[in-house]
Amino acid sequence: MTILVTGGAGFIGSNFVLDWLAAGGEPTEPIVNLDALTYAGNLHNLASLAGDARHVFVRGDIGDRLLVDRLLAEHRPRAIVNFAAESHVDRSILGPGAFIKTNVEGTFTLLEATRVHLQSLELAEREAFRFLHVSTDEVYGSLAPGAPAFTEEHPFEPNSPYSASKAASDHLVRAWFHTYGLPVLTTNCSNNYGPYHFPEKLIPLVIVNALAGKPLPVYGDGWQVRDWLYVGDHCAAIRAVLARGRVGETYNIGGWNEKPNIEIVQTVCALLDEMRPDPAGPRARLITHVKDRPGHDRRYAIDARKIERELGWRPAETFETGIRKTVRWYLEHADWVAQVQSGAYRDWVATHYGGRTAP
Ligand code: NAD
Ligand code: DAU
Repeated sequence: MTILVTGGAGFIGSNFVLDWLAAGGEPTEPIVNLDALTYAGNLHNLASLAGDARHVFVRGDIGDRLLVDRLLAEHRPRAIVNFAAESHVDRSILGPGAFIKTNVEGTFTLLEATRVHLQSLELAEREAFRFLHVSTDEVYGSLAPGAPAFTEEHPFEPNSPYSASKAASDHLVRAWFHTYGLPVLTTNCSNNYGPYHFPEKLIPLVIVNALAGKPLPVYGDGWQVRDWLYVGDHCAAIRAVLARGRVGETYNIGGWNEKPNIEIVQTVCALLDEMRPDPAGPRARLITHVKDRPGHDRRYAIDARKIERELGWRPAETFETGIRKTVRWYLEHADWVAQVQSGAYRDWVATHYGGRTAP
C-alpha cells in the first residue's frame, strides 16, 4: 500500500516523509509526494532519499484535477495526507490570492477527486481509506490572556487571510464527511519549529539573521504568545491520528508550551552565544522592535487532551531539548541555509522588512 502526501517538500511535509521512511518500527509504506515546489518547497530537504524507490516525487499542483485523478488511479493510495498550502501569515497579508487558490480551491479539488475515486473502490478498500487534512490552531482566532486554551469545540474565528483560508478548507473537509461520507480526519496544530524550517518564519529567521549579525525583527512589543511544538512531535501525532483517529473527528495538537515571542528570540540568542560565541558581543544586542503585523493575533494555546486521551500521543520533546536540537541543526547545515537564501528569498526580505520602521 502507498500513501499520497501533498506538500511533502515543505517544512513539515518533508519532516513527515523522512520520518515515515526512516528505519525502525514505524510504518514503511511507500510515499507518493505531490508538491508544486513553490518558493517554500525544496527538494534538498529530501536529498537523503535519492535512489530510494519508496519515495516517488511528482511536481504538480493539488488544484490540478487531471493530475490528481491520474495519481489516485495509478497508485491507489490507502490514504492522503494533505500538507500542501500557502503557510505564511505575512505573505497572506501582502497577497491573499494564492492562499485562496491553494488552501481553499486546492483542498476542494483534492476532496472532489478523492470522492469520485472512492466510488471505484471495493467496499473494504473504501472503508480503510483515510483523507487526513493538516490544519492549524489559527482557525480558532486569538485568545485573551488567561482564557482557556483552544479545544476542538472552540468556534472558528480566523483573523488573517491565511487563517481564513485554512478555516475554509477545514469546513470543506467537514462537509465532505457529513454530506458524502468521505473518511476524513483533521488536525489543528500549534506553531512548529525544527529542521528545514524556511527562514521567513520567526525561529529560523532569528537564527540566520543572528548568525549574519543582522537585526532580529520583533513585531510590536513582542508579547504575542504562541504554543511551540517540535516538528518531529507533530509528525508523530499525525501518524497516530492516521493510524487510530476516529473518522470525521478533529484533533488538536500542541506542545503545552506557551511562550511570548520576545522570550523565544532571547532563548535563541542565548543558545547561539553558547554554541558559537560572537566576538562582537551577545546576540540580544541585535533585537529590534519593528512595526507590528496588521491584525496580529495576541495569543494561541492548544488544549491537546483529546489526542492524548484517545490516541495516547504526547510531545516527546520539551521546548528546551527541541530548540537546542534546532539551533544545532542550523549551525551544522550552513549549506542548506545558503541554498534557501536565494534571490527570491532576498526579494521577500527586502519587500517585507525594508519599510518596517520601529513602532
Ligand atoms: P511550507 O510553506 O513550508 O510548505 C508548504 C508546501 O506545500 C511546499 O512544499 C509547497 O511547495 C507546497 N505547495 C504549496 N502550494 C501547493 C500546491 N498548490 N500544490 C502542491 N503543493 C503546494 O508549510 P509548512 O509549514 O510545512 O506547513 C504544512 C501544513 O501544515 C500547512 O497546511 C500549514 O497550514 C499546516 N501547519 C503549519 C504549522 C507551522 O507551524 N508551520 C502549524 C500548523 C499547521
Ligand atoms: O499557529 C500555527 C501557525 O504558526 C501555522 O499555521 C503557520 O503556517 C505558521 O507560519 C505559524 O504562524 P505564525 O504567524 O504564528 O508564525 P511566524 O513564525 O510567522 O510568527 C511567529 C510569531 O512571531 C508571530 O507572533 C509573529 C512574530 N514575528 C514573526 C516574524 C516572521 C516577529 O515578531 N518577527 C518576524 O520577523
